[in-house]
This record gives sequence, structure tokens and C-alpha cells, in this order.
Amino acid sequence: MSPMSNRRALVLGASRGLGLVLADELARRDWQVIATTRRSGGELQASADARNGQLTIEHVEMTSPEQLTALRERLDGRRLDLLFVNAAIDRGNLPIGEVSTDMFTEVMITNALSPLRAVEALRSLVAPGGTVAVMSSEQGSISRNTEDGYDLYKAAKAALNQLMRSYATRHAGDGQTKLLIDPGHNRTRLGGPDAPLDPRESIPAVVDVLEAQAGAPGLQFLDLHGETVPW
Ligand SMILES: NC(=O)c1ccc[n+]([C@@H]2O[C@H](COP(=O)([O-])OP(=O)(O)OC[C@H]3O[C@@H](n4cnc5c(N)ncnc54)[C@H](OP(=O)(O)O)[C@@H]3O)[C@@H](O)[C@H]2O)c1
Repeated sequence: MSPMSNRRALVLGASRGLGLVLADELARRDWQVIATTRRSGGELQASADARNGQLTIEHVEMTSPEQLTALRERLDGRRLDLLFVNAAIDRGNLPIGEVSTDMFTEVMITNALSPLRAVEALRSLVAPGGTVAVMSSEQGSISRNTEDGYDLYKAAKAALNQLMRSYATRHAGDGQTKLLIDPGHNRTRLGGPDAPLDPRESIPAVVDVLEAQAGAPGLQFLDLHGETVPW
């Protein structure tokens, strides 16, 4: 683990919602943060302006392998203590029989395939003893899937978890901490206005978990309190 003031993080998908607050919270805690967005300006730019060089911005469309490769090349020579893949989408609450093939493909590519492509493309930037984390959800837990609804989103997060387990097995010897994080139900565009949590409450708890787990090898699926989420 690097000295506290010298820690570096890359957060993918930080234009709004949980990713925006995550990038800002890490910078507030003295991490050097690179945060990605797909657009110019907005709240992430305002956050970068307020953090005086502690938070810098990169651009990437996570579903583009070419853009992931280009980002890796732009960051060549950097050393990360944390790679956090946050980006995902939700396309509403349709029963699976009403989901179009295009919608199924879009959500699976964005929420399951692309995060693992990003992790594979960028993992060499992460120092031994560093952390590779991906934003999952309790909705990806198969054993906790006891309420109707959100079939496609749940399936994509379950696929993400499974792919991360395969990744963890493949790279078991790399000395990196591997985490799937369930941030709880938050008021964001994805989480909706009636969610119980504000990202400003839940993300500091998530960062506590990231900091507490740093240096612990192997893969864990943890909630914002650091409790294990059952697969
Ligand atoms: N909110 C919840 O209650 C909740 C609960 C459990 C898990 N999660 C997970 O937490 C993460 C963040 O969710 P959120 O609630 O903060 O959602 P959000 O407000 O909708 O934000 C999603 C973020 O992902 C980015 N993104 C989406 N597709 C992308 C792509 N193809 N390439 C690059 N960036 C992309 C968005 O960028 P643009 O602004 O460019 O679209 C945005 O920054 C997701 O993984 C979500 O599944 C959320």
C-alpha cells in the first residue's frame, strides 16, 4: 500500500450518480483520482475544478474496446492503487418475455462484458497489492433473488459477478485485491427518486470498505458495510 497521500485511483463512469460521488470522495481523502466520463463539462468538471488537480478527467466509452485500449495507452506509466469500474445502465422493469434482443444485448454488453473488458485492459496499471473493484449490486445475487422484477438488470449483474469470479481465478496469483461492491439502493438516475440512500451517505461507507480491504488478496462480494453478500 502506498503512503496515504500518494494513493492513485481510476474510476470508470463518474459523470453522475454514485461514480461522481465516489471520485470526489476519494479526492477528498487525498487520493489522486482519474475519473472518466463520456461528455464534456457537467458535475464532474465542477468537481475537478474544486479539487485543485487532485481529480483529473479522462474520456472513455466503456463499450468500445478501441477506446479502452487508447485509454490504457494514454495512462501508460501510471501506477494505480485502485481501479474501480462503476459504469452500468438500466433499461427498466420488463418481464424477460418482453425484453427485445437489442435491449438484452445492450444491457449485457454494458453491464457484464464491458466492465470485465475494462478490467482486463487496465489491470496492468494496478500495482501488486492494489485493488480491482467493480460496482455490482445485491440484485446480482442469485440466492437473494426472491422478489419479482428487473429480470434483465439482475441477470446482467449475476453475469458480471460470474465473470469477475472467472477473472479472479485466472489472476489468482497477481497479489491484487478483487472486490464486487453492492452500494445499497441509492437515489440516482438508475436507482430512482424513492431509493432510501443518498450517494453522499453510502459512498463514504463504500470507500471505508475499499480502504479496509486494501492488501487483502482474493475476491469478495461486499456491501457498503463490509458484509459479505451471498452469491
Ligand atoms: N443506484 C442504485 O441504487 C444502485 C444500486 C446497486 C448498484 N448500483 C450500481 O452502481 C453503479 C452506478 O449506478 P448509478 O446509480 O450511479 O447510475 P447512474 O446515475 O445512471 O450513473 C451511471 C454512470 O455510468 C456511466 N455509463 C453508463 N454507460 C456507460 C458506458 N457505456 N460507457 C461509459 N460510461 C457509462 C454513466 O455515464 P453517462 O452520464 O455518460 O451516461 C454514468 O456516469 C452501476 O454499476 C449500478 O448498477 C446502483
